[in-house]
Amino acid sequence: MLNFEFKNPTKIIFGKDQIGKLADEIPANAKILLLYGGGSIKKNGVYEQVQNALKNFEVLEFGGIPANPEYEVLMEALKVIKAENITFLLAVGGGSVIDGTKFLAAAARYKGEDPWDILKNAVRTTDAMPFGTVLTLPATGSEMNSSSVITRKSTQEKLGMGGTGLFPVFSILDPQVVQSVPQRQLANGITDAFMHVLEQYMTYPIGAALQDRFAESILQTLVEVAPKIMANPADYEAAANFMWCCTMALNGLIQKGVPGDWAVHQMGHELTAQYGIDHARTLAIIAPSHYRYNFESKREKLAQYGKRVWGINEGDTDAIAKAAIYKTEEFFHSLGIDTKLSDYTPDYNGTAQKISERFAERGWRGLGEHKRLSPDDVEKIVAMSY
Ligand code: NZQ
Ligand code: ZN
Repeated sequence: MLNFEFKNPTKIIFGKDQIGKLADEIPANAKILLLYGGGSIKKNGVYEQVQNALKNFEVLEFGGIPANPEYEVLMEALKVIKAENITFLLAVGGGSVIDGTKFLAAAARYKGEDPWDILKNAVRTTDAMPFGTVLTLPATGSEMNSSSVITRKSTQEKLGMGGTGLFPVFSILDPQVVQSVPQRQLANGITDAFMHVLEQYMTYPIGAALQDRFAESILQTLVEVAPKIMANPADYEAAANFMWCCTMALNGLIQKGVPGDWAVHQMGHELTAQYGIDHARTLAIIAPSHYRYNFESKREKLAQYGKRVWGINEGDTDAIAKAAIYKTEEFFHSLGIDTKLSDYTPDYNGTAQKISERFAERGWRGLGEHKRLSPDDVEKIVAMSY
């Protein structure tokens, strides 16, 4: 096991009818900016619950943060934060609203000239405006981590940021919100969480038995609850397990002491930036090719995953590892998620080369757990995903 330090300061308030507890978590004299997305919270009762909880606070609102939160839109919210002397941010939404809020928390205290530099120059954020979240869509884990991914439409860029200042102060997770989530987003949430675990697990054995089993237990639970949640998002027990899996998949715990890959996400973000494909779906497009291309170095973990998560016991290590990749594709298909770029756009020619050139320009010359995937390798992996 590798050395590690672990600190996650986010307070989780989990369960039925917990949104009312908001008022106890925000400083009494706070001037709050409530941030939300395209309006789903106004149809499913979440907005009302939040408003009720905040009736004794001074609250302003900023709605309209789109999926894949856009820099241009967020800069409008930043103007409000500055003009109105906001002191606390409250994100009510999925990963996009929470990520957008993290960007704003950082930008509000940023000393440089242009907040885009936080993303472009990978500036780590240690000091940010405090913020909390009310999660409405289990998927990204953003509610309990310190990362954020922001899109800039004008340049077709999607870049990540992070730092110890970007943990939410608290996050309220009421699984009842899952009831109103559309099928497409349920499938996305399951797939994204599944891939978060694989990015931290599908590397090489390092003797971290507990982390491996944490990871496998999240994967197994997701496989178990997926058909239930797709059939009936109002199934509270399934929703609760789904929600907690998504949070645990990316709150830092399972990544401690083990190598991480994350190349699938890096390539996937480019497909969202270029084609607007949903984040989770980009991962389902890239992952099978990535695992086939890197089969030699990932073989042992692929086989361990095949045996422990999918119960494949026939054949040698190679056969089990290959079967595990097929099982993963089948799982995505069972959720209605297509796994080839050509399923999403007829315009895919040249994508691999473009992504490879972008990575070379950014100096991303060594991706993956061994830090040795070059832009040439990236080009081949993306081309295999057509
Ligand atoms: O905007 P509204 O109207 O709220 O509708 C949203 C949106 O259209 C809807 N939705 C959310 N909760 C709902 C609901 N509809 C009905 N009922 C509810 N309870 O779902 C749609 C998608 O929402 P979005 O927030 O975009 O989805 P998700 O949570 O999957 O977030 C995706 C974003 O997170 C980033 C992705 O790149 C993408 O930009 N990620 C963030 C990560 C992090 N911070 O750690 C890690 C991930 O790997 C990922 O990159
Ligand atoms: Zn993801």
